[in-house]
Amino acid sequence: MPAVQDPVAQDPIYVTDTLIAEDIDAYLRAHQHKTMLRFITCGSVDDGKSTLIGRLLYDTKMIFEDQLAALEKDSKSVGTQGGEIDFALLVDGLAAEREQGITIDVAYRFFATDKRKFIVADTPGHEQYTRNMVTGASTADLAVILIDARQGVLTQTRRHSYLVNLLGIRNVVLAINKMDLVGYSQERFYEIVKEYSHFAQQIGITAFTAIPISGLRGDNIASRSDAMPWYQGPTLLTHLEDAPVNLSRLQDAPLRMPVQWVNRPNLDFRGFAGQIGSGAVRPGDAIRVLPSGRSTTVKSIVTHDGDLAIAVAGQSVTLTFADEVDCSRGDVIVAADAPCEVADQFEATLVWMDEAEMLPGRPYLLKIGTQVVTATVTEPKYEVNVNTLEHLASKTMQLNAIGVVNISTDRAIPFEAYAQNPDLGGFILIDRISNATIAAGLIHFALRRSQNIHWQAVDINREAHAAQKGQKPVVVWFTGLSGSGKSTIANLVEKKLHALGRHTFLLDGDNVRHGLNRDLGFTDADRVENIRRVGEVARLMTDAGLIVLTAFISPFRSERRMVRDLMAPDEFIEVYVDTPLAVAEARDVKGLYKKARAGQLKNFTGIDSPYEPPEAPEAVVNTVECLPEQAADDIVKVILSR
Ligand code: ADX
Repeated sequence: MPAVQDPVAQDPIYVTDTLIAEDIDAYLRAHQHKTMLRFITCGSVDDGKSTLIGRLLYDTKMIFEDQLAALEKDSKSVGTQGGEIDFALLVDGLAAEREQGITIDVAYRFFATDKRKFIVADTPGHEQYTRNMVTGASTADLAVILIDARQGVLTQTRRHSYLVNLLGIRNVVLAINKMDLVGYSQERFYEIVKEYSHFAQQIGITAFTAIPISGLRGDNIASRSDAMPWYQGPTLLTHLEDAPVNLSRLQDAPLRMPVQWVNRPNLDFRGFAGQIGSGAVRPGDAIRVLPSGRSTTVKSIVTHDGDLAIAVAGQSVTLTFADEVDCSRGDVIVAADAPCEVADQFEATLVWMDEAEMLPGRPYLLKIGTQVVTATVTEPKYEVNVNTLEHLASKTMQLNAIGVVNISTDRAIPFEAYAQNPDLGGFILIDRISNATIAAGLIHFALRRSQNIHWQAVDINREAHAAQKGQKPVVVWFTGLSGSGKSTIANLVEKKLHALGRHTFLLDGDNVRHGLNRDLGFTDADRVENIRRVGEVARLMTDAGLIVLTAFISPFRSERRMVRDLMAPDEFIEVYVDTPLAVAEARDVKGLYKKARAGQLKNFTGIDSPYEPPEAPEAVVNTVECLPEQAADDIVKVILSR
C-alpha cells in the first residue's frame, strides 16, 4: 500500500481505498479540489469520543499507518489483509495514543470521503486539559459535542459548549451517543435536547444540530440507523460533509496580512512574507502598514510558483511594495480604505491555563498574529462560573478559570475583535521566565482611554532636572529576605551620598506600606502590585533627577525585571542582600519570624511564601561576613562609578 502525504495532515496516512491502491495520481486529483473541514470533538471523559472517531475512520475506511502497524503487531487474530480491521482494537489504539499525547497537545486525525477532507482535533475530556481543548477548538469550523445518553448534560458539556461558543464556532453538533444503551428511546433523546437547548440559549448558541447516534454500533454515523426510524435528520457524516467552512467568510472580509518575515535576498528585492488572514490582494491595491499607518500600493505578489494576479485568505505569499515603506515582522498589512484598529488597552476574555495563578500587574508576553509584546492585566473584572453562568468578582484567576479582564500592552498593536477575525483578535500569554503558555485570550474591544490618553511633551525634561542637580539619576534596588539588612544598608548608603552633596530619596517597604500602598497585603498578587507601584514611583523620581534607593523584599524575579525594564540599562543597580534565612530568622529584629513559625502570620517570605534570589545582580552583599558600614561603602563606589 502506498503512503500519501496530505499537505495539511501531519502524519502519513495509509488508506484502504481501492483508487489509491490502483492509481495514486487519480486519487490525488480526486482529493485535491475537495474542501477541508476542521472540527473538534469534545464532551466529558466517558462520552465516547474515541469510539466515535474510531467509527468515523473505520466507516470511511481510513486508518493511520502506526495504528495499522500496532494492530498487526499486537494481535495475530486481526486480519488486516482484506481491509477488515477489528473495530474495538482500533478504538483502543486511538484512546491509548491520545492518553500519551495529552501532555503535549492535541491529537489530529485525518480522513476523507468522496465529497470532502476532514481534520478532527481529538482532545481529552478532563477539566485539567481545558487548554488542549482550547487549542483544538481555535482552528475548528465545527464542534461535535458528545453526550452520553444515559448521563445527559454534564459540567464538561457546559464548559466545552461555553468555550466553543466563545471561540466563535457557530456550527455545533450535539451528538447524543450510546443511544443503544437507552433502548434507542426517542423520549430520552428529546429530553436531553430540551435540557441542552435551555443552556445553549443562555450562553448565546442560537442554533445547533442534534443527532442521536451510537459510535459503537455505527448508528447514524455514516449510514442511517434502522433502530431509530423516528429520526429524520442527517447522519453525522452527511452533516459534516455539508457544513460550511469558515474560509469563505474570511475571504469576503477586508485584507489583513500579518507580516511573518521580511524577505531581503539582495539589495534589489524587499518582500514581506506571511499568510493572508482575511480578504484578497491584487497588484495595484492600495494598502496600509499598521501600526505605523503608512500607505503604499502592492507592486507584486510573489510565490514559489511565480507571480500571482490575486491571492486570497489562507494563502502564504510575499508582497512587494511600490514605495520604500517601513514594514517589519509583527506589522499587519491591511486594505488602505478598511484598516483595522490600533490600540494598547483592551477588554478581553482569558482562559487561564497555568498552575500558577494570574497576577495582575505582572508583565507577561502577549503573542497576537505574528507579533509579541509585553502585557499586563490591569484589572480583573469577573470570572464566569460555566455551570450557573454567574459572574463572580475576582482579583486573580486560577487554573482553568474563564474570566474577563482589562489588559494593557507596552506598544499599540493592530487588532480586531475576536468575533470578527480570530487571527487578529485571539492571543496567548506567555510567562517571561519559564516561556510556558499560560493563557489564551480573546479581544472584545479597545478601551476608549487607550485612544484618548497621549504623552504630553514637557519642556523641563529628565535631562534638565538631572543637569540642574549635577548628577546622573539611578535606581539602587535592594532585595532580600525580611530582616536581611536592606533598610539598614540603604539608609547608610543614603547618608553617605547625602554627605557627598548628592540628591537622593529612600523608598522603604515598611514606610510605603503606611501610605501609598496601605491597601496592599502580602498575597502574591499584592506583592506584585506593591512592586509595580514602587517601580513607577522610582521611575518618576529618576525623571526628577534623583538617585533613588529602594528597600523592598521584592521576592519575584519577574517584577524586579519589570522595574529594570522601566529604566535605561545603566540606570538600574540591583543589590542582593544575601542573608541566609537561618541568619535573618535568628536576628528576628521585629519578632515576625517567631510569629510566622507559630502560624500567627500567613504568607511570610521564606516560611510559607517564596523568595526568588536574583540571577545576575549588579552587587551582592554578604551580611554574615561583612559589616553594614563596609557594605555601604562598596555600594557607594558602584553608584559613583556610573
Ligand atoms: S514585598 O514582598 O511586597 O516586597 P515589602 O518589602 O513591601 O514586601 O514589606 C516587607 C515588610 O513587611 C517586612 O520587612 C516585614 O516587616 C513586613 N511584613 C509583614 N508581614 C509580612 C509577610 N507576610 N511577609 C513579609 N514581610 C511582612
